[in-house]
Amino acid sequence: MSASVQLEKNGLTLALSGGASAYFNYFWLRENCDTAIDKQILERVYHVARAPEDLHAVKAEIEGDSLVVRWSEGDHTSRYPLAWLEKCAQNALREDEAELTRTLWRGDYYPKLQRFDYARLQTEPSQVADWAKTLITDGISLVQAVPNTDEALKDMVHLLGHVDPSCFGYDFQVRVHSDPSNIAYTTSALGLHTDLPSESPPPSVQFLHCRANESEGGESLFVDTCAVAEDFRSKNPQDFELLCKVDVPFRQIHKNFDMRDKHKMILLDRKGEVSGVSLSQHLVDVMDLPQKQLDDFYPAFRRFIHALEDPAYLMQFRLEAGECIVFDNNRVAHGRNAFKAQTGLRHLHGCYLNLSEVRSTYRILKAREQDKDKSKDNRVSKAA
Ligand SMILES: [Fe+2]
Repeated sequence: MSASVQLEKNGLTLALSGGASAYFNYFWLRENCDTAIDKQILERVYHVARAPEDLHAVKAEIEGDSLVVRWSEGDHTSRYPLAWLEKCAQNALREDEAELTRTLWRGDYYPKLQRFDYARLQTEPSQVADWAKTLITDGISLVQAVPNTDEALKDMVHLLGHVDPSCFGYDFQVRVHSDPSNIAYTTSALGLHTDLPSESPPPSVQFLHCRANESEGGESLFVDTCAVAEDFRSKNPQDFELLCKVDVPFRQIHKNFDMRDKHKMILLDRKGEVSGVSLSQHLVDVMDLPQKQLDDFYPAFRRFIHALEDPAYLMQFRLEAGECIVFDNNRVAHGRNAFKAQTGLRHLHGCYLNLSEVRSTYRILKAREQDKDKSKDNRVSKAA
């Protein structure tokens, strides 16, 4: 055994550079052996639950820049680069390039709304990477010069991932329906809401491709609920805490579906920052909190709705034919003004996509960009 490695009952302690040391559990080490991952499939093929209960290292030493461990099971030896172990000890192994800080926006955001050109997105991966980044940071973007075809919507989604179906199927048509299954399919005004909190999970990215907008009225409304809720947290901390805790029941029922789920009104991410809201007055089911608790809930809920409706947060504009607004459905509350169907056609073609696919695409495209830069550097240094 090397002097810089101490074997213990359930793990080993390793001396790191700079005089620090770190403890590593045997099961953790064993399942992170290089051979535990299939080289082609890139998934773990070793199952730690199949290891003997007393799995331990019989020998561990430093060889060059690696820790080499011989195991009590199967005459197996593992080799771990010390630099990799140090990163793990500092919890810095998986720095996630897709974990980007949100840029909160308010009612004056429209001129800064990031715009992307449909044709460039089809041919330039760097544009797709910028688009994905914008969806993660700003939660909203506008694609322009979108062809007036049924396929255009799917073609945009496929640049980032796959269509995520809902109770409406793979896509939906927002226009006046003769037998509407929700208020969006009428000419009524739609208050600020997030789509389908009745589903588990609710859809996360929404695409609305404007095929025609010739009616009087029907302006689109968008609010960054993260901006509202973070301000609300500082002004009304007790209300904020309550709305982060209480499960609100949602239900959407029609002839062929009966979707139900409960969600917190204000959603927090792992860091405790607001990631969005569950908001649909049309779909709130009969509140089933104890009635006395409702004495606190309704005033808090009403104050939060009034905050959301503060014009300072409202971005209102007219979506034009050939534009597609793409937004994080759980973060950006949306709505529309009423319109007059007799003055012209208003037709949006919509669908959903999971935000985790946007993050995944962003990581992949960034990695490809970096690989390209590296091979460019190599060519430059070879030529030099
Ligand atoms: Fe909606």
